[in-house]
Amino acid sequence: MAGTDTGTTGAGGGRQRPIVVVGASLGGAKAAEALREAGYRGGIVLIGEEHERPYERPPLSKGYLQGKTPREKIYVHPPQWYAEHDVTLRLGTAVAEIDPAGHTVTLADDGRIEYAKLLLTTGSVPRRLPVPGADQDGVLYLRRVEDSDRIRAALRPGARIAVIGAGWIGLEVAAAAREASAEVTVLEALELPLLRVLGREVAQVFADLHREHGVDLRLGVKVAELTGEGGSVTGVKLADGTTVAADAVVVGIGIAPATGLAEAAGLEVDNGIKTDQHLRTSDPDVYAAGDVANAYHPLFGKHVRVEHWANALNQPQTAARALLGQPDAVYDRVPYFFTDQYDLGMEYVGYVEPDGYDRVVFRGDPATREFIAFWLSGGRVLAGMNVNVWDVTDPIRELVRSGRVVDTKALADPKVPLGDL
Ligand SMILES: Cc1cc2nc3c(=O)[nH]c(=O)nc-3n(C[C@H](O)[C@H](O)[C@H](O)COP(=O)(O)OP(=O)(O)OC[C@H]3O[C@@H](n4cnc5c(N)ncnc54)[C@H](O)[C@@H]3O)c2cc1C
Ligand SMILES: NC(=O)c1ccc[n+]([C@@H]2O[C@H](COP(=O)([O-])OP(=O)(O)OC[C@H]3O[C@@H](n4cnc5c(N)ncnc54)[C@H](O)[C@@H]3O)[C@@H](O)[C@H]2O)c1
Repeated sequence: MAGTDTGTTGAGGGRQRPIVVVGASLGGAKAAEALREAGYRGGIVLIGEEHERPYERPPLSKGYLQGKTPREKIYVHPPQWYAEHDVTLRLGTAVAEIDPAGHTVTLADDGRIEYAKLLLTTGSVPRRLPVPGADQDGVLYLRRVEDSDRIRAALRPGARIAVIGAGWIGLEVAAAAREASAEVTVLEALELPLLRVLGREVAQVFADLHREHGVDLRLGVKVAELTGEGGSVTGVKLADGTTVAADAVVVGIGIAPATGLAEAAGLEVDNGIKTDQHLRTSDPDVYAAGDVANAYHPLFGKHVRVEHWANALNQPQTAARALLGQPDAVYDRVPYFFTDQYDLGMEYVGYVEPDGYDRVVFRGDPATREFIAFWLSGGRVLAGMNVNVWDVTDPIRELVRSGRVVDTKALADPKVPLGDL
């Protein structure tokens, strides 16, 4: 059995427990960076179960999947960064248990590390498709770089690719597959793609986009079973009896926050690890950030869990400052995300719960795919999405943040600068 690592030698020569970060992806790597930027000079141990050093996931369904973004571009930091910043990076190492009372994490290989403060950036894991045949070869999920490699290998000209789920993964993979000249069928349970995030008015834009690019988009369908032969998938059988033949099936039906460790440690968990606005969990020495954190957001007056890149990029700065004892470290950024599909690029800033708006206002014609959509409630802008229109995120964010009632005619009029609303 491996021993207990009680930490690093502090500036004064004494042994100090390090700050331990569990989850070595975007959130974890940014936390290590933020701790150093905040002037912390003690030990940092960054532990991740993946074997790759921290990398970003957005390219895995876009440029990297299409073979346009080289592998060295996906990483958060160059390899020497960790040693240069005295960050102990433990890759291929899963944390099996947290003991908040003893301030210790136990590794799956039985080693133990004591911590002064702990930050959980364990992210999320794909939901598995709960139907017969889903464990066959050729049924592919997309979370890690090796998943992207496997999917890329399947995207050959003429290959029949069935995509289950028309969310972000499903649609971005469908676009990459069409660009690789594969035949693509997308199977979505709801009546429109991205329906719960965008609502009916704007979701329709994505349905039209994919159909125009030759995707066979089947909406409101129920997957009953994956068919196979010799252990490899051959198609998707729907509840209405029809079968979609497939050489590979990509499943993107959402994620679940990786809360197992936190739950077992007795931390408060509810749709993610619950934190306050400082990203502190129910244990005062344990913090959480990124996909896994269901954080109290002062602007919205409620807990919000955001499954997007910008949140994993920015929350760690707040968590790092807060765990170093800076009381003004509060996470109140307006959520932001982006996508690229075919020739459509968009940014979204704001936060709308499913059915949480009463009106959508378009500035520009959605049919031209060059427009801004605004979701409103009671005349206030909750979110805005710019599609093939650029450099407008700041004024849209300001509209959302201000919560002021806007003149919807002026909002729709491209001649009125957004900053004047
Ligand atoms: C293919 C893909 C494309 C995406 N594209 C976009 C995009 O275009 N725009 C956007 O805004 N967002 C995008 N996202 C979402 C974005 O990547 C995530 O929000 C972000 O990765 C969250 O970062 P995180 O560090 O919180 O968690 P994760 O990236 O999930 O990382 C968590 C890490 O913790 C590790 N871990 C978990 N448990 C343990 C444990 N017990 N011990 C040790 N290690 C552990 C995991 O192995 C993992 O490496 C995309 C996601 C995917 C999968
Ligand atoms: N551009 C981006 O921001 C981006 C890109 C890729 C991934 N991501 C993130 O990655 C994570 C995973 O993405 P995702 O697309 O898997 O999740 P998602 O939640 O975006 O979409 C899942 C889709 O699958 C559908 N679905 C669920 N069960 C189904 C079933 N049995 N059959 C058919 N359809 C079903 C849902 O209705 C939904 O449309 C999310 O956190 C997402 O935010 C973000």
